Amino acid sequence: MKNVFVMDHPLIQHKLTLIRDKNTGSKEFREVVKELAMLMGYEVTRNLPLQEIEIETPVSKTKAKVIAGRKLGIVPILRAGLGMVDGLLSLIPAAKVGHIGLYRDPETLEPVEYYCKLPVDVHERDLIVIDPMLATGGSANAAIQFIKDRGAQSVKLMCLIASPEGVKAVCEAHPDVEIYVAAVDEKLNEHAYIVPGLGDAGDRLFGTK
Ligand code: PRP
Ligand code: URA
Repeated sequence: MKNVFVMDHPLIQHKLTLIRDKNTGSKEFREVVKELAMLMGYEVTRNLPLQEIEIETPVSKTKAKVIAGRKLGIVPILRAGLGMVDGLLSLIPAAKVGHIGLYRDPETLEPVEYYCKLPVDVHERDLIVIDPMLATGGSANAAIQFIKDRGAQSVKLMCLIASPEGVKAVCEAHPDVEIYVAAVDEKLNEHAYIVPGLGDAGDRLFGTK
């Protein structure tokens, strides 16, 4: 699928293995999720436009490149998406952060919205929706639709682990959205958990299980 970018850099793959391991505790899990978000953010921001400005080095005047004034926005899907915010903000500290609260109903597997607060100028920003897990794709699709309904024109999705089903669902619902992942796993199980995956990302981040 042309909109799907799997980041197979060795550092990313190594860190992904650390958080897949069930013996990794919440403290290390949080640290590694942050590092992964930072490493992946490098690729997600690859096409940011640059502009030239005049500066003076200790040796001479010169023209040098800086990121053009394009506005960015980061939109974590609560809760687990929160774990990826700081990693991205350390690369792009001027980005605004919107939040979308969604949980997956365990019976229906449908996403249920409980919170939404976005930057007012969402229509002018390049938005990166973040969530560690893309399982059925229901949560990501709902989040992307919320922000499009509020005027967003440029949206990317960044997840750590996706299922083939989730990738397909987002590509079909939002063919304009590029999807960045560290891995596309084998399948979903009967509870719509990603196999092999890493379990429940929110619980592992926040130690709630
Ligand atoms: C997890 C995960 C995604 C969603 C993925 O969140 O962080 O948001 O499930 O599943 P889907 O692709 O089938 O929608 P969860 O609903 O467990 O909420 P939490 O982040 O509060 O733990
Ligand atoms: N949400 C998770 O946290 N993990 C999965 O495997 C699927 C949905």
